[in-house]
Amino acid sequence: MNKRKFLKQAGAASVAAGVVLASRSIQAQAAAGETKVLIAYHSVTGNTEKMARGVAEGATGVSGAGVVLKKVGEVTGDDLLACDALIVGSPVYFANMAGEIKTFFDSWGFKFRLFTDFKMRNKIGGAFVTGASVSNGKETTMQSIHAAMLINQMSIVSGGGAFGASATTGPDSPGIDEKEFEAARALGKHVAEFAAITKRGSKS
Ligand SMILES: Cc1cc2nc3c(=O)[nH]c(=O)nc-3n(C[C@H](O)[C@H](O)[C@H](O)COP(=O)(O)O)c2cc1C
Repeated sequence: MNKRKFLKQAGAASVAAGVVLASRSIQAQAAAGETKVLIAYHSVTGNTEKMARGVAEGATGVSGAGVVLKKVGEVTGDDLLACDALIVGSPVYFANMAGEIKTFFDSWGFKFRLFTDFKMRNKIGGAFVTGASVSNGKETTMQSIHAAMLINQMSIVSGGGAFGASATTGPDSPGIDEKEFEAARALGKHVAEFAAITKRGSKS
């Protein structure tokens, strides 16, 4: 089974079964020359993780894209240096990114030393979030992720919504419905497409 097929099947199986693979990361390491899309997320109750799988599905469908899906705490400096695009997913916590996502971005300073010399410069960035309420901070959370990327001179791409993909997960609309999962796919697709365009362009 090739790696892309593996990712698709693993994602489909976990979504179908409603299984949360909380401690595992799925990696379909991009071969040389492929557009490398890294999806990094935090999730406690599984909603953002399910959106991450949708984003991975959308990106995997783009010709020439290789996708790595990881929890933020598992992402290494080499993962970040190797990727062409980074899509970050967070639950909305008090209208902002979760502390784990902030710690991830903060690690670009002293731990990974990516901020020095702007090592993430020109990589493509995107964001997705889940929040309990329809309108209690999803867009501010996506913008906070965008802001961290912009300060590192990344280029931001939307998809699945004006700012990125989002889902409402509270009692009125529990879990991730098909429309929200489709928004996640759309984000992954658009970011991967744009990353492929800029990668091709940088070679000419
Ligand atoms: C500490 C905390 C703060 C939260 N703040 C918000 C909020 O400001 N707005 C909102 O819509 N949901 C808020 N939520 C709900 C979560 O964003 C929501 O349940 C999310 O889907 C959880 O993601 P997960 O299942 O990936 O862990 C908060 C949850 C927690 C635990």
